[in-house]
Amino acid sequence: MIDSPFEKASSQSVRILGIETSCDETATAVVENGQKILSNVVASQIDVHAQYGGVFPEVASREHVKVIYAVVDQALKQAHIELSEIDAIAVTRGPGLAGSLVVGMNMAKGLALGANIPLLGINHLEGHLYSAWIKPDDIEKYEEPLFPLVALIVSGGHSLLMLMESHLKYQRLGSTLDDAAGEAFDKVARLLNLPYPGGPSIQKAADLGNPYAYTFPRARLEGTWNFSFSGLKTAVLRTVKELGSHGGDLPVNNLAASFQTAVVDALVTKTFEAAEQFHARDIVVAGGVSANRALRKAFTDQKRFVVHIPPFSLCTDNAVMIATAGYYRYQSGQRDGLEMDVYPNWPLS
Ligand code: KG4
Ligand code: ZN
Repeated sequence: MIDSPFEKASSQSVRILGIETSCDETATAVVENGQKILSNVVASQIDVHAQYGGVFPEVASREHVKVIYAVVDQALKQAHIELSEIDAIAVTRGPGLAGSLVVGMNMAKGLALGANIPLLGINHLEGHLYSAWIKPDDIEKYEEPLFPLVALIVSGGHSLLMLMESHLKYQRLGSTLDDAAGEAFDKVARLLNLPYPGGPSIQKAADLGNPYAYTFPRARLEGTWNFSFSGLKTAVLRTVKELGSHGGDLPVNNLAASFQTAVVDALVTKTFEAAEQFHARDIVVAGGVSANRALRKAFTDQKRFVVHIPPFSLCTDNAVMIATAGYYRYQSGQRDGLEMDVYPNWPLS
């Protein structure tokens, strides 16, 4: 008996084709029943944008156009599946760069219309969140996150703290008042002359540095669940200028390590406080910044809460997460029409 729209009939497989083009990755994937990855294709534009030190929106959309047909084809081939065997197409509708979103959206509409397949517009942040429900092949003991849960979504454009009572039901607790966590990593990397993308570069430098070399501020923002990283960024800038005025090499590794510790501390402290206050059973951490090893360690080095963090390969942008969120949306009855437009500033709640 199926007593919830989220209890899947065991005899019936639902296969979703995911398409993600919100920023600088052209990604496609086929996922079965919201858990099993049949294919996962990511064409990254990192090399193209590295020369600009960040994502150049106009260039990003043109790069998506160049490869979108090939990556859709590859996802189907890798999954050994025909388009006619796909139950729905889930495409990122927002938030993201308008010109980039349009490329994925138009591709999805064309496929949906041509093959008469249901179309679903997915919130990119919901995708990140649902990456915690994907069952990785190499992890034998997989446990689904339990509700109610507190979720921290930390990416290049967003830092969100959410309370999730059940599937697809969110309450926003807090967000960043200025820079997103990933944006702070990217900006501080630029200050330290480290290559784009900043997160992995800072992490690499931080591995060689002393996290306690400098004491950078952690904005407490008492009484709210919001974050703020602009004060921290300014403190790093001030220290870099001061050290620069003395001449000699900048202690990049120590600065990176001290900065990373301050970000991790701010994120982890607020998330645990929220989980306790709202009596969460579990915690989910997702988004590009959740690939950070220091952040992962800080979350998992405790016994109070079970913390679900996607495997490294599913932290940064991919289409598996869009197909997985698409599965839950599909089961809830969502179907979108061909008039659906992209929604570049779409909030998750
Ligand atoms: O989720 P994502 O791939 O794209 C957006 O939705 O924005 O996140 C990208 C962000 C970038 O700011 C990048 O610097 C950061 O995630 N990031 C990291 C790490 N890997 C990626 N930040 C810290 N440590 C990492 N290892
Ligand atoms: Zn993302």
